[in-house]
Amino acid sequence: MNKNLSIIGNFQSELEKINDKLQQTLINLGGAGWDIKSYAVLSEGKRIRPLVFVLVCKALGYCFEEIYEQSTVYEFIHAASLMHDDVLDNADIRRNKPTVNSIWGNHMAVLCGDNLYLTALEIALRTKNLEYIKMLLESVKEMTEGQILELENFMNLKITKEVYFKIITKKTGSLIAAACKGAGILSSATEDLKHQLYKAGIYMGTAFQMVDDLLDITGKREELGKEIGKDLMEGKVTLPFIYLLERIDREKSSWFKSALEEGISKELVKEISTKILEEGIGEKVLEEAKELTQKAKAILEILPPSPEKEGLLSLNSFIVVRRY
Ligand code: IPE
Ligand code: IPE
Ligand code: MG
Ligand code: MG
Ligand code: MG
Repeated sequence: MNKNLSIIGNFQSELEKINDKLQQTLINLGGAGWDIKSYAVLSEGKRIRPLVFVLVCKALGYCFEEIYEQSTVYEFIHAASLMHDDVLDNADIRRNKPTVNSIWGNHMAVLCGDNLYLTALEIALRTKNLEYIKMLLESVKEMTEGQILELENFMNLKITKEVYFKIITKKTGSLIAAACKGAGILSSATEDLKHQLYKAGIYMGTAFQMVDDLLDITGKREELGKEIGKDLMEGKVTLPFIYLLERIDREKSSWFKSALEEGISKELVKEISTKILEEGIGEKVLEEAKELTQKAKAILEILPPSPEKEGLLSLNSFIVVRRY
């Protein structure tokens, strides 16, 4: 399946430039694990983070060639986080292909992920902009803290909505926020605008993860390119389950707990997913995600009119309608 973002088809040339830069950087990089890193990065991802970076730069009138090189920072960080994430989640399939850990093993996935993080840092250093580099490091730190917090809540059926939102804001919101604010910093935007851009990225990223967590239940494997039902099987209690737990009685909830502890079968995942849909929880989650994208929209509206601003707005709307 073609993972290019049809909704932002007008930006096909931007995506091509981003992909060329990714490829070129990997070739120049060479070194140990080159084939593994290329396999992970060059597979068909949506490239949302580098695209957001490029569009915000251009919307702010910062249109130098350098932006494509810097855009790779966000995809390299993303790819590194996915390589580690697939180890943490015991995932076998990503982007419709076997994961790095399933082919080369966990050790290699961890090391190549580390290496890609440092590649990203190396590219960021080329800007010689300390504010930019500091902001990036803080965001990546937040991202890893989100993953730590998620692990701390492994199989925690008492997890609150508040903790869930803290996890996803950190693990997914912070990198998209960094792409928005990073563009603002390089474009010498005002303090207030940089702050607003960061907030818009947080809203978009948080909504993005809410939808990802819903698609883990309602999505189609071929469309999503990932195994369905993985979150619950791996003891990750996401928003749809939090809502379901709120609605089922105590007795059932202890049944839920023992099912989680004993390991959840595919059949049980289906049963639970059906229940989630019957309860109208899918709509509720989407509605809440939409509220966040509305907040992001209100901020993006302050950008001066341009095709790139329109691109950002359609990308923002895509978050809640996406199926992949
Ligand atoms: C997957 O991100 C990980 C999450 C933060 C949910 P994407 O859905 O952007 O993955 P690719 O890059 O398009 O494969
Ligand atoms: C991962 O979240 C988010 C990261 C920051 C890597 P998920 O574990 O839900 O991502 P997928 O579903 O495997 O892509
Ligand atoms: Mg995962
Ligand atoms: Mg995960
Ligand atoms: Mg997921």
